[in-house]
Amino acid sequence: MKEVSQLENEVQDYYGKELQSSDDLKTNACCTVVDYPQKIKQALKNVHDEVLTRYYGCGLTIPTQLHGLRVLDLGSGAGRDCYLLSQLVGKDGHVLGIDMTDEQLEVANRHIDWHRDKFSYSDSNVSFVKGNIQDLSSAGIETEDFHVIVSNCVVNLAANKKAVLQEAHRVLKDGGEFYFSDVYCDRRIPHHLVNDRELYGECLSGALYWNDFFNIAREVGFSDPRIVDSRRLTIENKSVLKKTEGYNFYSVTHRLFKIPGLEPACEDYGQAVRYIGGVEEEPLFFRLDDHHLFEKGKVVPVCGNTWSMLENTRYSDYFEFFGNFENHFGIFPGCGTEIPYHDQPTNSSETLNSKDSGCC
Ligand SMILES: C[S@@+](CC[C@H](N)C(=O)[O-])C[C@H]1O[C@@H](n2cnc3c(N)ncnc32)[C@H](O)[C@@H]1O
Repeated sequence: MKEVSQLENEVQDYYGKELQSSDDLKTNACCTVVDYPQKIKQALKNVHDEVLTRYYGCGLTIPTQLHGLRVLDLGSGAGRDCYLLSQLVGKDGHVLGIDMTDEQLEVANRHIDWHRDKFSYSDSNVSFVKGNIQDLSSAGIETEDFHVIVSNCVVNLAANKKAVLQEAHRVLKDGGEFYFSDVYCDRRIPHHLVNDRELYGECLSGALYWNDFFNIAREVGFSDPRIVDSRRLTIENKSVLKKTEGYNFYSVTHRLFKIPGLEPACEDYGQAVRYIGGVEEEPLFFRLDDHHLFEKGKVVPVCGNTWSMLENTRYSDYFEFFGNFENHFGIFPGCGTEIPYHDQPTNSSETLNSKDSGCC
């Protein structure tokens, strides 16, 4: 295996020098093909063209109900998601982006004042810091300082994924969440592919085997990772396809809540919740993850973990809660752990074709 410093230098070189825009990508791993909600489409219109051109994310990493919050973006690149979030947290919130590549940070920083004026804020609510997401304390990021952490197609590029998750867990407040998109593989990737500069830079060969991801997440304290969205990547580039034959890659958006007491397996305590409405982006239905959709006004039975994800987070004011943790009915049906990624593309996104998807 290559030294960590060599891997990181190559990633910096790839995103700092080799790629000038998303058109330079050789695969569609670092592309986003989702039907953006209206609010996001509107907010994107207020982001500077140069920032948009240098966007290399693989999912929509913007959760709901962000007003007034402190948000951290791991591997913020040229800052697209930070400038989206800046509008959603409002002037009383703050967004901090961290990245290790000078050229990406230069673009992000150069547009701070432009966006401040565009959003009519007297002071910018966005800042960027240079640093490594595996060691946030060296970048001056303190324990329990953020309500939400996002990240878009970056964790796969870090040599030590566990350190990234550990740091994310440390700097989140209780009740906060790490909401992020990344690339995963349906099997472990051998060293010779990890060492391939192009495959690694394109966010493929650094991908975690999805089951390893679940185990690492639990080990660091994110006990019940939830999938929000997933899609299978297709690879059109012939040389990349040849090298990765037999490996299936997925872009997956997860939300990991930092809630003490979450259990690794969802237990049924006979509880239920009712969405009373009020989350601005979700007037009629509240979507927690890819198998929890709450219709406004309807009482829905939930496992103890789902109850906690609603009761002990910023969503608690928007729900009514029925029951407690005193009765035990075993594993909650249909809310199990170990959710395998789908073999076929799922949800709203169709199979990607890098040439005609219109992605990036
Ligand atoms: C695929 S790009 C995504 C950038 C951004 N999130 C976006 O959506 O446009 C990956 C970014 O992660 C940064 N990166 C990779 N590994 C990193 C690390 N260990 N620490 C900090 N930044 C890292 C790179 O410099 C690059 O800007």
